[in-house]
Amino acid sequence: MSSSNSASGDIDIDKEKLPTHVAIIMDGNGRWAQKHLFKRVRGHEKGAETVRTIIRTSRSIGIPILTLYAFSTENWQRPKHEVMALMSLLKKFLISECQEMVDNNIRLNVIGQVEKLPKDVQETISETKAATAGNNNLLLNLALSYGSRAEIVESVQRIAAKVKNGDIDVEAITPDLISDHLYTGGMADPDLLIRTSGEMRISNFLLWQIAYSEIYVTETLWPDFSKEEYLEILKSYRNRERRFGKVPLQGK
Ligand code: IPE
Ligand code: IPE
Ligand code: MG
Repeated sequence: MSSSNSASGDIDIDKEKLPTHVAIIMDGNGRWAQKHLFKRVRGHEKGAETVRTIIRTSRSIGIPILTLYAFSTENWQRPKHEVMALMSLLKKFLISECQEMVDNNIRLNVIGQVEKLPKDVQETISETKAATAGNNNLLLNLALSYGSRAEIVESVQRIAAKVKNGDIDVEAITPDLISDHLYTGGMADPDLLIRTSGEMRISNFLLWQIAYSEIYVTETLWPDFSKEEYLEILKSYRNRERRFGKVPLQGK
């Protein structure tokens, strides 16, 4: 696929008001397939094309961090053939996109229980991460076997071990310390959380990190989600008044 694109040229996006971190719950692949009388896997395949489009668009307009919820800890409970199809699609996707990520200065990071993924997928992730490690344009976080509660538990366990070893005092446990021990440690929290296909729920995604995120739910099914709709959402984000608990116009 080509590494060129023109997304930055044809939109009027005020860079100053762009979110630093966009997180997306990519939902609706199954319903898209059902609507077209296809098997669910076809929906995931079509969904992978949307992933490509949204990564390209994010990079070309200058979003610094994009986090995509691709597979949850709960998704392991799906029928085995669907889980296997998703894993093989993931591997194929990483292999086919690696060069484009290198060419476009995109760094891949994975958040989630990587050790639970099939060995070959883990290897492909390691290779892609290594190939893109020096890149600093877009940080692409893929949430794989990701669950926010598991992430928080892991972080609490690591902090408790430090207290037990005498490395830190109990008083040193602050919101910042907890943030630093999450998979997203060191990253800005999402400014904008998008969920496709209309469900009004969080589904165990970034529970800690979205404390003050702006939420946008669209009815569009993920395979039908377009660059144009994404840009519209980014534009509408500019008109959100973020108060962080203060009174209007008091600012951040
Ligand atoms: C999202 O689409 C992809 C994953 C969760 C892996 P779904 O597969 O959840 O699609 P629906 O919700 O059944 O339509
Ligand atoms: C959330 O979608 C997980 C991903 C998008 C990877 P689900 O389809 O798994 O969520 P629920 O089951 O509708 O809450
Ligand atoms: Mg779903």
